[in-house]
Amino acid sequence: MKNLILGIMLSMALIGCTDKKDTTANPTPEKRSAADISAGKAIVERDCKGCHGLDGRGIAPAIPHLAAQRERYMLASIKEYKEGKRTHAALRDMMGNMSEADMRSAVAYYASLPPVVNASAKDVQLSSLYQEGKALAAACTKCHGEDGNSRIPGTPSLAGQQLHYLVAAIQEYHQGERKVAAMKSMMRGSNTPELEKLALYFVSQTPAQRSAPSFGDPVAGEPATAMCGGCHGSNGVSTDSATPSLAGQDPQYLVNAIRAYRKTRQNWGMQRYVAGLGDKDIENIAAFYAIQKSKAAGEAPSSAKELAEKCNRCHDVDDNPAMAAPKMNGQDKDYLIMALRAYRDGKRESSMMHNMSFTYSNAIIESISSWYAGQPAR
Ligand code: HEC
Ligand code: HEC
Ligand code: HEC
Ligand code: HEC
Repeated sequence: MKNLILGIMLSMALIGCTDKKDTTANPTPEKRSAADISAGKAIVERDCKGCHGLDGRGIAPAIPHLAAQRERYMLASIKEYKEGKRTHAALRDMMGNMSEADMRSAVAYYASLPPVVNASAKDVQLSSLYQEGKALAAACTKCHGEDGNSRIPGTPSLAGQQLHYLVAAIQEYHQGERKVAAMKSMMRGSNTPELEKLALYFVSQTPAQRSAPSFGDPVAGEPATAMCGGCHGSNGVSTDSATPSLAGQDPQYLVNAIRAYRKTRQNWGMQRYVAGLGDKDIENIAAFYAIQKSKAAGEAPSSAKELAEKCNRCHDVDDNPAMAAPKMNGQDKDYLIMALRAYRDGKRESSMMHNMSFTYSNAIIESISSWYAGQPAR
């Protein structure tokens, strides 16, 4: 079947070749000829076989399989090695010494191969991560509410808040950048993975709807928020992981927070937007945001399979014009683990993948990597 499709693609490529304009200088992956592929095979035998095999199967753990991998992704990776965006000294040197044409042929050859055959894996439950976060959250719920919805004026809700913001905010108390006695002592002694699990738990809680506060006028507040929405989202529901949602927040906390930016809380971006607000404006804005309906910024996946469904929105799409994401089904497990850790720890450049993985413990990385390694490659 694969060969049949390939045959059809090749004949289409040959038809494409009658248009001489762009095929010579910069052929797109679709316009591969059989000659390219057999030239590629010779290059692979000479330069790549020792590690990636002639059949595209990595010969040892942590060497990626390349068989049937997307051509565009492989070319993008090679460019990243050359430019040092992906760090691997040996590959950088080797890729740097090869001609562009040879590289394209080698990659075309690997892309044309049938996928590797691999053993299948069972699904793994991930709920323990969230259970751990929930257990840690017990230290916070007295003030922030059982489900992260605070009912104490001046104490913020954490339910449904944006993940990166929440982690950063917790760290600010931790490091004493935000000085609140109660919060500082709460945070002492916790380490980063614990903070991240905690944050993950709160992020997945559902924010409650609030009734109108005893102060401020929400109707008067709304027009005053015109310039806030660009960052904080429509009606205060943020869609950016580093910018907090304001919708459904405790109104007294909102007032305190806005005032704090004018004095103690250092944030260049926020200061300039709130510096000109009078006390009445601040109360009105707080009243407006407090009664808006918010939603959870994240949901807790219960199993590796469920998590993979999210990853597959990018990874399981062929010919995505917006990005070159690799196929992962059947990929080498150790290689996936290594790649995910590199993204998480900021050692492999991709802000998209870093944002995705920065809260992942080693356990979650191993689970999702096992899951992918055990899926039939295609
Ligand atoms: C000495 C062993 C070795 C040789 C020879 C080698 N590679 Fe690799 N290759 C690796 C390793 C190890 C990685 C993973 C490195 C990393 O962590 O980024 C890799 C990664 C890649 C990737 C990125 C795959 C992905 O899923 O991100 C591509 C594409 C690739 N190699 C192509 C080639 C080609 C084409 C050749 C021959 C011209 C070649 N390699 C030769 C060891 C090798
Ligand atoms: C004794 C009550 C109390 C306890 C217990 C407590 N907090 Fe707080 N927390 C507060 C108060 C009050 C504020 C608002 C401080 C301010 O105005 O900066 C706050 C603020 C925060 C913020 C900032 C929210 C934002 O929108 O910027 C975060 C995050 C937070 N707490 C997390 C936690 C976590 C996690 C725990 C448990 C480990 C915890 N807190 C335990 C009282 C408490
Ligand atoms: C340019 C983007 C931007 C604009 C415009 C903006 N904000 Fe913010 N706001 C942020 C960011 C980013 C943070 C988090 C900063 C930090 O870590 O202290 C924040 C934090 C806040 C907080 C603290 C929330 C909390 O949970 O502690 C409040 C309250 C707030 N903004 C209100 C407003 C209001 C009201 C306006 C409009 C008058 C506004 N912001 C305009 C980006 C913006
Ligand atoms: C929004 C799109 C998107 C989503 C969602 C996404 N990824 Fe990615 N992923 C990418 C892109 C693009 C790359 C290539 C980045 C690069 O060049 O390093 C990538 C690369 C990777 C790699 C490197 C693989 C290799 O062959 O080198 C791994 C591993 C990975 N992603 C795992 C995951 C996991 C696990 C999830 C789900 C938790 C996920 N990704 C969700 C877009 C996405």
